[in-house]
Amino acid sequence: MNTTPQTVDPDTSASSPSADTLGMSAVQARSAVLEERILKDPGQFRVLTGDRPTGRLHLGHYFGTLQNRVRLQDLGVEMFVIIADYQVLTDRDVADNLTTHVEELVLDYLAIGVDPARSTIFTHSAVPALNQLLLPFLSLVSVAELNRNPTVKDEINHSRQSAVSGLMLTYPVHQAADILFCKGNLVPVGQDQLPHLELTRTIARRFNDRYGNGTAVFPQPDALLSSAPLLLGTDGTKMSKSRRNAITLAADADETARLLKRAKTDSERHITYDPATRPDVSSLLLLAALCLGRTPQQVAADIGSAGAAALKKTVTEAVNEYLAPIRARRTEYAQDRAYLRQTLREGNERARAVADATLAEVRAAMNSHY
Ligand code: TRP
Repeated sequence: MNTTPQTVDPDTSASSPSADTLGMSAVQARSAVLEERILKDPGQFRVLTGDRPTGRLHLGHYFGTLQNRVRLQDLGVEMFVIIADYQVLTDRDVADNLTTHVEELVLDYLAIGVDPARSTIFTHSAVPALNQLLLPFLSLVSVAELNRNPTVKDEINHSRQSAVSGLMLTYPVHQAADILFCKGNLVPVGQDQLPHLELTRTIARRFNDRYGNGTAVFPQPDALLSSAPLLLGTDGTKMSKSRRNAITLAADADETARLLKRAKTDSERHITYDPATRPDVSSLLLLAALCLGRTPQQVAADIGSAGAAALKKTVTEAVNEYLAPIRARRTEYAQDRAYLRQTLREGNERARAVADATLAEVRAAMNSHY
């Protein structure tokens, strides 16, 4: 297997703006440029993306990133999807039901259209050479940099653990290994992951400077920001596995209807799309619109003065219709555990081959190839 995708036009890639220094709009502008390049030459890119196996994926994930992954895959971009099992241990002592959660993720991926023939699905813990990259990478970052990461700070504030583990502080470096082991140069992410991407770019740059001998061992990967706005959960806060306000891909039509019936709205009968003043109603409109391929304003206009009940009926029907084929595929795959396990075994094997080749290069560059 070819382990070295061409880097994305190294000149511009090296000087491309970063989230940290230029802010979100620069990342968005950069994403637009990347979109054009992807359309022109998908073979230049290798995507690395992934999730922590902590539960079933939901519509927030789907419209935030999953749909985008399948789109990239179908455009011909090579893709690695990591199930980040070690990363589960950042904010909890034990990874509960790990085998089930990993299998559920594989099911979700297959159901939405990730194709194991074209995309590699694998887990952290099965790829030793990936994990070994963590050590040299740790030497390239300062403790101050680790302490500054805003996403980690936020996660520490929300963690229920009594003490912050070393893994919590260092997992962004591990995530750099996730991305760089396969020389991924494109990472579709939400905003919260941008600090990690920035750190990954820093590590790639420092490694190349320190050990590259004039050549770039690692590309500096770009973030590809999804254009979908944030979906709220049924209680009006961010849709999240841990808040029990999420509509999962795996939920059936009745459960979806029940969840949406409970969804928060407001007392104004006339339905309008106004995310700033009517966040709950607007999020439901957005969800319906995403499923129907229309704008939220159009959906709102159709409902007009029919009120929240009509809105909920529209959303429920739209979601259930949209998810029906995904759910049907999921049910089918769920009956074939042997296939799930084989998918993961083959993905892990492919990832190991790629990681071994990269680690060999790293050891050669560091003069530790004995
Ligand atoms: N941190 C990501 C999340 O919580 C999951 C993840 C692990 C990831 N490794 C990655 C995402 C590498 C992108 C690239 O969603």
